[in-house]
Amino acid sequence: MSAVASIGVFDSGVGGLTVLRALHAQLPGVPLIYVADSAHAPYGDRSDAFILDRARHITRFLRDQGARLIVVACNTATAAAIATLRAEFDLPFVGIEPGVKPALARSRNQRVGVMATPATLRSAKFRALLQTHAGGITPVLQPCPGLAAAIERGELDDPALRQLLATVCAPLRAAGCDTVVLGCTHYPLVAQHIQAELGAHVHLLDTAEPVARQAARLWTHAVPAHTQPPLLYTNGDVDVLRRMADLCGLHHAQIHSLPPSAA
Ligand code: DGL
Repeated sequence: MSAVASIGVFDSGVGGLTVLRALHAQLPGVPLIYVADSAHAPYGDRSDAFILDRARHITRFLRDQGARLIVVACNTATAAAIATLRAEFDLPFVGIEPGVKPALARSRNQRVGVMATPATLRSAKFRALLQTHAGGITPVLQPCPGLAAAIERGELDDPALRQLLATVCAPLRAAGCDTVVLGCTHYPLVAQHIQAELGAHVHLLDTAEPVARQAARLWTHAVPAHTQPPLLYTNGDVDVLRRMADLCGLHHAQIHSLPPSAA
């Protein structure tokens, strides 16, 4: 086991890099280890039991690598698994949820859209979030089946991906939403295209930064004198992970295949 305490971060694939980017900015020098579970993406089409099983497996790997705080950089896995992870592991966890509350606070016309995976939108955790924070307003809930999977392929300008974005954005545009929550960590990777579909006047909101701030609040370990670049593991395509890491400004990240025992 590594002696250096690190923050472990995981997602169903490359999407959590949008959270890793915020963590790296918020906690420079803190060792970061990331797992992209791309061989099992998308989680949004999976059962809760499957996602929990993967989340446990990856948490064990990260803990064994020295992780002392785990960031579940996936809305879908947070909804399906974080309560059980907290009960089973003696580690602090930070999860991510669609930013319904800040979106409603920011919206001028109280028309807020939420783009997320079908699994996130039907989860009990998301329903509870709506009940607590929506205050009688019903956001426009837009499930985006296939979108995370399309982003996973790494061809962000692919015409089929652009067509899918046009389809899922059309109801949000028709509803006149002035604020749209990107409720899946993959979606900020195509924020530019979403913005083009919805119009420049629409505010896109994701929750990577509040998650990074919460991780910074919970981080109690020393920052090593000699910092190492973020370590990224994948059981999918290392070239796609490299490209997406570059897109997130993580040019110096080291990228490895996940060891078969952890894959
Ligand atoms: N990045 C994910 C999320 O935040 C998961 C997408 C998926 O695998 O379906 O929900």
